[in-house]
Amino acid sequence: MPQKIAAGNWKMNAPDPAEADTLARQHPDPGVTVLLCPPATLLASLSERLSQTKIQTGGQDCHTAASGAHTGDVSAAMLAAAGAGHVILGHSERRADHGESDGLVREKAEAALEAGLTPIICVGETLEERDAERTLEVIEGQLSGSLPRTDAPLIVAYEPVWAIGTGRTPTPDQIEKVHALLRAQAPSDTPLLYGGSVKGSNAAEIFAIANVDGALVGGASLTAEAFSPIVSALE
Ligand code: G3P
Repeated sequence: MPQKIAAGNWKMNAPDPAEADTLARQHPDPGVTVLLCPPATLLASLSERLSQTKIQTGGQDCHTAASGAHTGDVSAAMLAAAGAGHVILGHSERRADHGESDGLVREKAEAALEAGLTPIICVGETLEERDAERTLEVIEGQLSGSLPRTDAPLIVAYEPVWAIGTGRTPTPDQIEKVHALLRAQAPSDTPLLYGGSVKGSNAAEIFAIANVDGALVGGASLTAEAFSPIVSALE
């Protein structure tokens, strides 16, 4: 059985860290993995703050190299040293803002595994691709290009670009079709997360879809009030 995971991606936001304390108090012993991925500058302090709780932390990106002349970058080993156990890779915002290719995402995932982190590899189609009925073809291409060539444990997140931060979500049938493809292509027992406008009011319906093992949540992970019902729906 794949692990169940409620992961929060804070993106480039710095909510009050007390929100994480509240979340930890609300879920002292979650029956699922609960994970917060803050900006890199907040990772060490948040990891320390949550060290006596069951809430884990992760990074949002890493470089392919372990160290060296890469101004502005952070290595997977540095994320691990700051307390992370996971790292989000290939998020559509990085693919769009930084031109990250599938091949680069795969190299980053291999670097993450080398450093002992579990990569959360993101894939997802644009609205144009969905309208052109190319969704499955696009996802298949991203998966085969981005997944590391090893059997090491990883996580895959399906995040349709048009559903991120828009309040729009695919129909259960649309999510189910993509997750069936992910299940067929990813190593067995890989947790498969859905991301894109997940909130307390739609989480239970999304978690009931076949092969959805959890969520990667943006906006609704910034407060305990919004994230806690999502965690509860998964528990
Ligand atoms: O990585 C999470 C994400 O892209 C979804 O964002 O704000 O639509 O939940 P949001």
